[in-house]
Amino acid sequence: MQEISSTIMERCELLGNVSEEAGALTRPYGSRALHEANEIVSGWMRGAGMTMRQDEIGNLIGHYQGSGDKTLILGSHLDTVRDAGKYDGILGVMIAIACVQRLHDRGERLPFSIEVAAFADEEGLRFGTTFLGSSVYAGEFDEGSRNLRDWDGVTLREAVSAFGGDPDALKPIGRRVGDLLGYCEAHIEQGPVLEERDLPVGIVTAINGQSRVGLVFDGNAGHAGTVPMEGRQDALCAAAEFVLEVERAARAEPGSVATVGEIAARPGASNVIPGRTELSLDVRHPDDEVRERLRDHLKTRAEEIAASRRCDCEWQPGQETPAVSADPDLSALLARAVEDSGMAVHRLPSGAGHDAAQLAGFAPIAMLFVRCKGGISHNPAESVTQEDVGVAVEVMGRFLERVKEGATLP
Ligand code: GLV
Ligand code: MN
Ligand code: MN
Repeated sequence: MQEISSTIMERCELLGNVSEEAGALTRPYGSRALHEANEIVSGWMRGAGMTMRQDEIGNLIGHYQGSGDKTLILGSHLDTVRDAGKYDGILGVMIAIACVQRLHDRGERLPFSIEVAAFADEEGLRFGTTFLGSSVYAGEFDEGSRNLRDWDGVTLREAVSAFGGDPDALKPIGRRVGDLLGYCEAHIEQGPVLEERDLPVGIVTAINGQSRVGLVFDGNAGHAGTVPMEGRQDALCAAAEFVLEVERAARAEPGSVATVGEIAARPGASNVIPGRTELSLDVRHPDDEVRERLRDHLKTRAEEIAASRRCDCEWQPGQETPAVSADPDLSALLARAVEDSGMAVHRLPSGAGHDAAQLAGFAPIAMLFVRCKGGISHNPAESVTQEDVGVAVEVMGRFLERVKEGATLP
């Protein structure tokens, strides 16, 4: 097990250097770095005895043939946020490959096939909407997303073509109803709970829903030295007031989190009053009704703030992902695998989004969280121990055993 976990750590380290930015890990959808990561990971999948394909959006899919008709999917994503850690998504893909590698090394075939999916876009860094990869895989892709534009004005349609895919064929391969046993994703926790409880792994109960919105405040650019304070239509001041309202409103709604993570002031010069600001908004809650209420409140407040400053406000809905629950039966098998490995089972919800949330309408889902240091994620300081990675591989191996028992029942 030590050799396997050490290989996983080395692979995460290596992929941690496959980046669009020198000195930081940034691997957006469709980038040269993602292409390079796909090439490297394809080689590892082939080495683990899998046949390979890359689908139209660029998800990498390895297939390890079993003796029966059904398929179990394992996986996570290979794209990253800006200045990311090395494990978010990547670790889950590496653990999945290691599980297949162990079977291959033993010459073992299971009574079902395993498909390892390395999704091409979970973070949504480039197009501001998450799960582009898994939404295609699961048949949930929103056709309108093809017109989304990145920071350089490149459309998703163009980016898909440049990445080697057909933007008019973003559909899953045909599957027969019922041929999937489920999807199981290992992922770093990205929170402090497992560390606080001194546990290497935990079982995910549900994944919070999220709303993503783009906002524009339009005011009037002007001379910073001559326009009196009373006469201004400062779009950045409107945005600033809105950002603090986001913080206040989310604090007032227990269980919710809301974030403005991007802001740009135009035209962007120290002696020009900002005439336009563009912002992102991310709102999350375990209960969809509460999230929608908070989102709607923020829309009303954005409009009120804009009006009070004689600015216009444009609210651009980006994405709505409902909260999803993990499948109780598949999660029970994962929990049994944790017990089989001699550990206490701890169940916890996920505040972060995961590809599993997209796959929930397609197959039963289960997730294994792996402890990460200080709960830190979306940060280069993200860290896991090799020992915990070894535990996660052991649990996933035992999970396959449990699924096998179920799959061979009459
Ligand atoms: C993905 O990491 C997300 O939850 O934003
Ligand atoms: Mn992730
Ligand atoms: Mn992430």
